[in-house]
Amino acid sequence: MPLPAAPLPSRLPASAASDGHEWACSPADFGRIQSLIHKRAGISLHDGKLSMVYGRVSRRLRATGHRSFKSYLDWLEQHEGAEWQAFINVLTTNLTGFFREQHHFTALADVLATRRTHAWRIWCCAASTGEEPYSIAMTASETLGPGSSFRIVCSDIDTEVLSTAQRAIYSIDAGKGLSAQRLQRFFMRGTGGNAGLMRVKPEMQKNMEFRTINLIEEPLFTEPFDLVFCRNVMIYFDAATKRQVLARIHRVLKPGGLLFVGHAESFGQARDLFVLRGKTIYERI
Ligand SMILES: C[S@@+](CC[C@H](N)C(=O)[O-])C[C@H]1O[C@@H](n2cnc3c(N)ncnc32)[C@H](O)[C@@H]1O
Repeated sequence: MPLPAAPLPSRLPASAASDGHEWACSPADFGRIQSLIHKRAGISLHDGKLSMVYGRVSRRLRATGHRSFKSYLDWLEQHEGAEWQAFINVLTTNLTGFFREQHHFTALADVLATRRTHAWRIWCCAASTGEEPYSIAMTASETLGPGSSFRIVCSDIDTEVLSTAQRAIYSIDAGKGLSAQRLQRFFMRGTGGNAGLMRVKPEMQKNMEFRTINLIEEPLFTEPFDLVFCRNVMIYFDAATKRQVLARIHRVLKPGGLLFVGHAESFGQARDLFVLRGKTIYERI
C-alpha cells in the first residue's frame, strides 16, 4: 500500500495550525483509531505507528471531505456504512510476494505428493494481493499434475487487495524471483499498453475462490480444510486475539490438518491446539 510522500509527524501534534500538518490528530483521536481498528479487525497499533496512521487515515479525511480527525471519527462511529471498510483497508499492511518464505512451498509440495489423488482443500486466510495463493496454486499444479483436484479459498479482510488478487495482474517486477519455466507456464505477458505487466492464466483461477473474511469473526465454511496458510498476519494481533484466531483455525482444519504460519509468529498460547511438525508448520491436535 503506497504511503503519501508528505513528511509525517514523529510525535502527536497538538493542533494542525501549530505543527504545520494539514489536520490535527490529538492523542485522543489516535487512541480512538487504535481502539476502533482493534475492535473491528483485531489489529493492535502501538504508539510508534502514529506517523503511519496519520498518513493513511488522512487519505480518508481527504476522500470524505472532513477537516479534522475528530470530525471524521465522530462521523465514522455514527454510521454503519461503506466507510468502515475503507477505514480498515487503509490501516492494513499488505506486504507479500510470490514464494515468500520458500521453505513452506517445498514442504507443501512434499505434503501434496503424499496423496496425489486426494481432493485437497486449502485456505489462504490473509491472501493480500494474491501472490501467496497463486504460489500455492502453482505448487499444487506442479506437484499434482494435470487434472489435479484442489480448491483454494483466498480471503482477506481488505477488499481492495482482494480485488487485486482476483484481477491477477502484476508488474513484471513482482515476478522477478519466478523461474522462466513458471512464468511461461502460469502467466501471460502483457503487450502494447500492458507492457510491463503480466497476468496469471485464467485456468489457474478455476480452482480458487475469493472471499472477504475477517479472522476475528467466525468463518462460515461447509467443509473443513486439509491445510491453512495464515502467514504474517498474527504479528498484528495481541495474545488474546491470536488465541481466538488459532482456535477458529483449529475448528475448520481436519484432524491432522496442517497450519503454515509466518517466521515471526510464536505459538505459546496454543500448545493444546497445534504441535510443531516442521519449520513454522503445525499439525492440528
Ligand atoms: C503482511 S500481509 C501478509 C500477506 C501474506 N499472508 C504473506 O505472508 O505474504 C497481512 C494481511 O493480513 C490481512 N489482515 C489483517 N487483519 C486481518 C483480519 N482481521 N482478518 C483477515 N485478514 C487480515 C491484511 O489485510 C493483509 O493483507
